[in-house]
Amino acid sequence: MDSTQVNLGTPCGQLVAPSLPGAEVLGISSVEVHNYSFPAVAIFNAPAVTNLDFCNVSLSLRHTGADDTVYVDVWLPLQREDWNGRYQATGGGGLAAGMGPLIMSGQVADGYAASATDGGLTKNGTVDPQSGRWALREEDGRPDDDLQLNLAWRSIHDMAVVSKDVIRQFYGAGPDYSYWNGCSQGGRQGYAAAAKYPRDFDGILAVAPAIDLPSMVSSDYYPPVVLRNSAEIPPECILTEFQRAIVEACDPLDGVSDGLISTPESLERCSLEFDPDALVGKTIACDEDCVDRDPFAGWVKVPCRKTGEEVTITSNHADIVRKLLAGPHTADGKSRLWYGMAPGADFDALARVVVVTDPDDENHTRREVAPFVVAENWLKYFALRDPTYDMTEMTHDDYVHAHKMSVDRLTPLWGNRQLDLSEFSRSGGKLLTWFGLADEYITPFGMMRFREGLQETFGGPDAVDEWYRLFFAPGVGHCAGGVGPNPVDPLGALVSWVERNKAPDVLSAAKRTDEGVRVSRNLCRFPKKLVYKKGDVNDASSFTCEEEKEESLAGGGGDDNDDKRQRHEEL
Ligand SMILES: *[C@@H]1O[C@H](CO)[C@@H](O)[C@H](O)[C@H]1NC(C)=O
Ligand SMILES: *[C@@H]1O[C@H](CO)[C@@H](O)[C@H](O)[C@H]1NC(C)=O
Ligand SMILES: *[C@@H]1O[C@H](CO)[C@@H](O)[C@H](O)[C@H]1NC(C)=O
Ligand SMILES: *[C@@H]1O[C@H](CO)[C@@H](O)[C@H](O)[C@H]1NC(C)=O
Repeated sequence: MDSTQVNLGTPCGQLVAPSLPGAEVLGISSVEVHNYSFPAVAIFNAPAVTNLDFCNVSLSLRHTGADDTVYVDVWLPLQREDWNGRYQATGGGGLAAGMGPLIMSGQVADGYAASATDGGLTKNGTVDPQSGRWALREEDGRPDDDLQLNLAWRSIHDMAVVSKDVIRQFYGAGPDYSYWNGCSQGGRQGYAAAAKYPRDFDGILAVAPAIDLPSMVSSDYYPPVVLRNSAEIPPECILTEFQRAIVEACDPLDGVSDGLISTPESLERCSLEFDPDALVGKTIACDEDCVDRDPFAGWVKVPCRKTGEEVTITSNHADIVRKLLAGPHTADGKSRLWYGMAPGADFDALARVVVVTDPDDENHTRREVAPFVVAENWLKYFALRDPTYDMTEMTHDDYVHAHKMSVDRLTPLWGNRQLDLSEFSRSGGKLLTWFGLADEYITPFGMMRFREGLQETFGGPDAVDEWYRLFFAPGVGHCAGGVGPNPVDPLGALVSWVERNKAPDVLSAAKRTDEGVRVSRNLCRFPKKLVYKKGDVNDASSFTCEEEKEESLAGGGGDDNDDKRQRHEEL
């Protein structure tokens, strides 16, 4: 940007409430903030920010005929020359519509005018949205359709409209480009934005999207059900040992032993071929993991202590792992409700076992399952609509019922197969997703099937790649982390695509191991896959991206898709 630019707009303190069709803007406050700092956010790979100056705009609004109070926060870099001319709407996580300063801080530091919304889910700051309590109305316990609609997609558009308005007021000019940026729930919101408001954003970065929420998040509760209904709840170290063994066994399936299960195909083969019984009888030293490192379960305080003991892996343990990898099925085992966990992903996010001290006897401990609270609250408040439901007593049959309730009741609002992306595909907008193949919260198999479905609808991968590109990141966890190299600057890649028509062919990823070794990869756009050529396995240049090697390459696109569909049905 031209550093001599001056701000031709309205001073921060004098911004006025925008109008929003379908809602009444209740109030606006706008105050200059100086020398703001925010700590690093590991779960989003975001560094600490310091010394920020911005105009802090906070709006509240109420939808016509609804009883909600929705807050939208917009942070505008104070100096015109510090603004990069772009607007960025930031998404939520878990059951929250927005993460506030957690994502906005870094984006404002990078020059964006950024916004976040609570979608009204905090009920004017009185409810933790992760609790799920907002999904039912206080007065009669019935679903709060307004708030659910707000999170599903309505709050995205509210935020975009009012944010663009205050940007125009403040700088005297609207944004040159508008972006969405979100992971997990925020990624799902990105897909909803593309479908429902295809003209709100020029570019959408939707990382590890929680698409197919009714099936997906319900399946995140399958591990606790398996553990609680097994002969004995094993210590977490057993599952950690299985995770290690899975990576060791399946790493070579992609053609190279580099510590990573690198291709979607090798991940699928691993799910099918890894034999948990191979570990039965093995004895391991067990340090039970008592660390609360789950960002979404951070509010669950579990008293917990480490113990050291030798444990032997049993066929019961193997059976648990087999179920987690297979995913939830109906009682007769014949039909699968959703895909299983990614082999090699951390088990301790969804299948988390902690040691708790007996409140009546400080010398006595027992193991308990610590479910992923978002999945638990989803089933209680959204699917079963029963806050008093005793989840600890849930049998397998109860679980299948709850899963069905989730799909039956919530698919119209939260399903993704209904989302029509055709308008977005024609709008010139760009959608970029990356997804960790070791995502411990959202199974990557749903993402693969979703994208393949789109490829069938829209005429093959190349046609879809015109407006939507998907990159799988081997060994990478949910939104960030894991043992694999993390995407370095996916938003930058999207910006280049939108503004300079430089479509990303690969997405560069890197990490430094605990031993200080730099590992890099150029992530391939699906359905291409990483293939090892020669050289240092830690270096991106030793790999290429290749098309799937299939006999049908000679036979033409249609057969290819049919073959693939059939293969997937067999899996
Ligand atoms: C800005 O904040 C930092 C740390 O919070 C503080 O050390 C510094 O003195 C502040 N600078 C100004 C100009 O207020
Ligand atoms: C921005 O303004 C809102 C509303 O007054 C306030 O709640 C919030 O704390 C402010 N944020 C910062 C960083 O000052
Ligand atoms: C929200 O809560 C604040 C107090 O925290 C109160 O002053 C305000 O009137 C409330 N707003 C609405 C719309 O209920
Ligand atoms: C726990 O063990 C300690 C040390 O053996 C003992 O002093 C204490 O009374 C025990 N506490 C209970 C509740 O039994």
